[in-house]
Amino acid sequence: MQQGTIYVCDSTEQAQSFLVPWLEAAGHQVALYNNAQQLMDLPKGHNAEYPDLIFIDDQLPGAPLDDLLKRLVTAYPRATLVVVSALATVRKAVRAVQAGAHEYLIKPLGSDDVAAIVSRVLERSRLEKENQSLKAALKDRFDPGQIIFKSKCFEQVYALARKVADSDASVLVLGESGTGKELIASTIHYSSPRREHRFLTINCAALTDTLLESQLFGHVKGAFTGAIASQSGLVQEAHRGTLFLDEVGDLSPALQAKLLRVLQEKEYMPVGSTQVKHADVRFVAATNKDLKEEVAAGRFRQDLYYRINVATLKLPPLRERREDIPLLVRFFLRKQEGRELDIEAAALKRLVQYEWPGNVRELQNVLEMAALLADDGLIKSSHLPLSIIDGGTTAFKLPAQHMSLAELEQLYIEQVFRQTRYHKMKTAEILKISRKTLDRKLEQYAIGKPEK
Ligand SMILES: Nc1ncnc2c1ncn2[C@@H]1O[C@H](COP(=O)(O)OP(=O)(O)OP(=O)(O)O)[C@@H](O)[C@H]1O
Ligand SMILES: [Mg+2]
Repeated sequence: MQQGTIYVCDSTEQAQSFLVPWLEAAGHQVALYNNAQQLMDLPKGHNAEYPDLIFIDDQLPGAPLDDLLKRLVTAYPRATLVVVSALATVRKAVRAVQAGAHEYLIKPLGSDDVAAIVSRVLERSRLEKENQSLKAALKDRFDPGQIIFKSKCFEQVYALARKVADSDASVLVLGESGTGKELIASTIHYSSPRREHRFLTINCAALTDTLLESQLFGHVKGAFTGAIASQSGLVQEAHRGTLFLDEVGDLSPALQAKLLRVLQEKEYMPVGSTQVKHADVRFVAATNKDLKEEVAAGRFRQDLYYRINVATLKLPPLRERREDIPLLVRFFLRKQEGRELDIEAAALKRLVQYEWPGNVRELQNVLEMAALLADDGLIKSSHLPLSIIDGGTTAFKLPAQHMSLAELEQLYIEQVFRQTRYHKMKTAEILKISRKTLDRKLEQYAIGKPEK
């Protein structure tokens, strides 16, 4: 038999000599209360183990039965309340049930009665718990990740994403690597009327043409070597849902034509088949190529470009929304399960000042690593990569082609100036030159703060 937590609220001799010892012998956690007041006074949120089952004698002194039942229902809404009575009447039973009791039994209880009711209740609460954890797991799988921001520029993109979500319009998401393109695509899906159906993603740059086509549209048995059984494609699986096409700029001309057909006619053919199939899919695409340029160069179909680009979302790089960094830091630290993590103000400042070429993904990786290094749970500057601590100066990479010393000097000054966010004092400090010399060099190389 399963074991559970059971309260016995009973002041009679029978409870002490039979019910409690019997339940304990069966391995349950048992608490005995012989006065209702003990239960009425339970402090709010007291953290004794939550009872699965509560036996209540209807003659328990200390408070009227109705009041006690109501109190227990609010304190333990998931517990099963069983009233036991030596002098049962229909009227009393009805009142008890009205006050929240689930069952009304007549004393004396035999061991068979107790065994039956305990196993029934525990089985039910096990199923409920299982159901809850399944629901939680499902929610994790099907909910988009939380999007953290407070900056105005991200807010605008987010608002637009929520707005286009309602329609079936195709959306093109642009942004540097790690800015959250996939995350915003999933947000669109999960805020759209399609949210009950699937959100699937495919990277168009990661597969050969044949494989990609079969992944997208499926194939029939024998369509190519190794196609031992027919298989459905993502377009079919995402029917009534959303398909996220990452690196859409890498699609071959042949696949561009096939994708256009799905977008325009909602039609496609599995590889090796001549049977036309239908699918209703919403597309969100992303690319870090300049698609307009690709169109101009004849590498990307113009008609497809207009089709996938009904709405454009441009995600700002992290360095243009530094006010989001502290929030993201807290968010990622909270996500490290089972550990209380904090960060020193100085270290946080470094993170806010860094350039983040890899954007949010890079920030996430840096924090995961720092969390590993911080044994006592407090992240300090020394736990951060060198490139972040020294303002990025060690990250300076020599360009591949040959250049003159003057050109190199210009490049380096430009980089440091950008990294200090155009702070002349700091730049001069890092370069170990005077303010005056810096001014001269900035003028000489025509380096300035870019106009926004
Ligand atoms: N605003 C945000 N709030 C919380 N997490 C974020 C945010 N933006 C990005 N992330 C997280 O950062 C990581 C990178 O995001 P995502 O994969 O969406 O970026 P991407 O633009 O598709 O990157 P890539 O170009 O490298 O494919 C993910 O783990 C994502 O959950
Ligand atoms: Mg991505």
